[in-house]
Amino acid sequence: MSAFFIAGTGTGVGKTLVTTILCHQLRSMGRNVQALKPVVSGFSVDDPQSDPVLILRSLGRAVTPEALDQISPWRFAAPISPHLAARREGQKVAMEDVLRFCRKESPGSETSRLIEGAGGLYSPICDDATCARLIAAMGDPVILITGTYLGSISHTLTAMESLKSMRIPVRAIVVSESAESAGLHETIESLCEFGAAGYPILPLPRLLGAIEDRWQEAPPLAHLCEIDHA
Ligand SMILES: Nc1ncnc2c1ncn2[C@@H]1O[C@H](COP(=O)(O)OP(=O)(O)OP(=O)(O)O)[C@@H](O)[C@H]1O
Ligand SMILES: [Mg+2]
Repeated sequence: MSAFFIAGTGTGVGKTLVTTILCHQLRSMGRNVQALKPVVSGFSVDDPQSDPVLILRSLGRAVTPEALDQISPWRFAAPISPHLAARREGQKVAMEDVLRFCRKESPGSETSRLIEGAGGLYSPICDDATCARLIAAMGDPVILITGTYLGSISHTLTAMESLKSMRIPVRAIVVSESAESAGLHETIESLCEFGAAGYPILPLPRLLGAIEDRWQEAPPLAHLCEIDHA
């Protein structure tokens, strides 16, 4: 099995887009893939663009209450940090429970498992842990998603330093072009120049159209999940 944690430099950088592209591409190659977004805030059952719904669609699965529970058991309404959204609903999510959930199903040896975090690396994902701490406890390598917005270079290099200090392996950085972009290739060049040169850095240009069209048009990313590299 290959397993990766899809982490971001912040919220809205493209973690779900990359997760769903990977699911789509792996399935197109005939590979088994499991994707989880254990904790989600800002969730509404009526939203066809929520992270769990997009992930289920990319897995070719129907969106049912059972399927939502299987990939995103902790869903909170307020569009704020998950630990705060949970508290507003009188709940506390413990890292041990999230860890147990993520490890519960043991996918087959030919399966890729992707886990999308919430927000940025140091966003609290539950009541007692940031994403970074959860990742360290899981032990999976990270695919770090960043953007090309002004500030993304610093956010990315800071995230890389943090991952290094926590001895969390980084499989690759995916740079997803932001709506307000400082330049996709300039951003990648600068990341290489200022400290990320030793890592695979993949560009994801701005994609247009419906989500299914974006999956079709996206450059190949699925090789990042090859078992040999896990
Ligand atoms: N390369 C891109 N091309 C087109 N749209 C993009 C691209 N990258 C991100 N987006 C869009 O930006 C928005 C935010 O992306 P996405 O939901 O994937 O971010 P996220 O990191 O998963 O956010 P969250 O922290 O809320 O989970 C989405 O509408 C997504 O489709
Ligand atoms: Mg997301």
